[in-house]
Amino acid sequence: MAAGSVAPIGAYPVVPQLPGMGRPVDTAAVAARRRALLKRIGSGTVLIPAGHERDIEQDYVQDNDFRQDNTFYYFTELETQDAVLLLTARGPDSLETVLFLPPRTPSQERWTGLRLGPDSVAVRLSGIATVLPLDSLDSRVHAARQPLYTPQGHGRGQRAADAASATLNVTPIVDSMRAVKDADEIARLRRAVDISVAGHVAAMRAARPGMYEYELEAALEAGFRRNGADRLGYPSIVGSGPNTTTLHYDVNRRRTENGDLVVIDAAAEWGQYTADVTRTFPVNGKFTPRQKAIYDLVLGAQQAAFDAVRPGITMRELDGIARRYMHEHSGNLCGERTCDDREYFNHGLGHPIGMDVHDVGISRPLEPGMVITLEPGIYLQAENLGVRIEDDVLVTAKGAEWLSAGAPRTTDAIERVMQGR
Ligand code: GLY
Ligand code: MN
Ligand code: MN
Repeated sequence: MAAGSVAPIGAYPVVPQLPGMGRPVDTAAVAARRRALLKRIGSGTVLIPAGHERDIEQDYVQDNDFRQDNTFYYFTELETQDAVLLLTARGPDSLETVLFLPPRTPSQERWTGLRLGPDSVAVRLSGIATVLPLDSLDSRVHAARQPLYTPQGHGRGQRAADAASATLNVTPIVDSMRAVKDADEIARLRRAVDISVAGHVAAMRAARPGMYEYELEAALEAGFRRNGADRLGYPSIVGSGPNTTTLHYDVNRRRTENGDLVVIDAAAEWGQYTADVTRTFPVNGKFTPRQKAIYDLVLGAQQAAFDAVRPGITMRELDGIARRYMHEHSGNLCGERTCDDREYFNHGLGHPIGMDVHDVGISRPLEPGMVITLEPGIYLQAENLGVRIEDDVLVTAKGAEWLSAGAPRTTDAIERVMQGR
């Protein structure tokens, strides 16, 4: 996609909303994940509980009152609440999946809308042939093949699991599976990234000196939501002037001034997967020579890391490559020290993304199908000058693909978008 253009988000197929359960399930993808998990276990049972609705009075609700548990979502793609998934392996050719669902309650559905219940609709939508009422769970767990695995620290699953004899933690196995994304996950990430890019471009186009950071935040998040974001991937960071040097500044209340840089680190979540994108731009649409020099050094470091991405390399090695580039190209831009100094580039180069913004697998050598961020930065507090550029990158067999290249990344491309050209 050409720099500066916005992904044709409106052209995505319209997905019908299904009562009580969110989007359609890729039943083949989730079944393949369940088979892969059971093959890893060999023999035994896995109990995976769904998430529970947050309490609007007692919890701090930021967006809506339910987000599915990641492990349950990974193996079902269902957005239904208080369900439990029971997977059993009795050897490589005997794998069983049972979905337990709470009963439907018409009086509650007056408040919540339709919910999935233990009936043929659930069978059809989930692609799981055996769907049982939740009150039959305990007896099934007691009779389950040992050992019993559960994700660590889940309320309902933990209670049922505690009643059984041996309980092992399935999370490390699931995490190792989640590190490499399958085609369905990559499609979700691409969409989350495209939506995020649209929001960044909207914020750049809206920017004027004198705007408050929250006004930019509003333009950004309107761009996300207008393009179908489910929610924010994480609280939006919109820092101007001195706030550009605070890595996770998300107060977003300062009034911008002519000559400020603005760092926006923000992304949308779509279909449970989140992007993670940062752009830095001058609020008045024109970089000063000093801002451009620092920006171009960060950009060069990011490009050097991108050019080195290939299967087998580690995030730590990529971090070293970006720092070496900065070290060798700093000249006297950062004074007596070079710009790669931990005083100025004081965070890691990047991390995997997925259902969590800081997703699993950061220590693993890269493999095709992993999706990572590359996000070098230089933060000069004495000058109120911070620059971070963060893109999302898919590791391929031959190298890497920029996913977020639709958000203008060079100073020229940013100036063109901001000046409406
Ligand atoms: N948005 C958080 C991070 O870049 O890691
Ligand atoms: Mn990041
Ligand atoms: Mn980020």
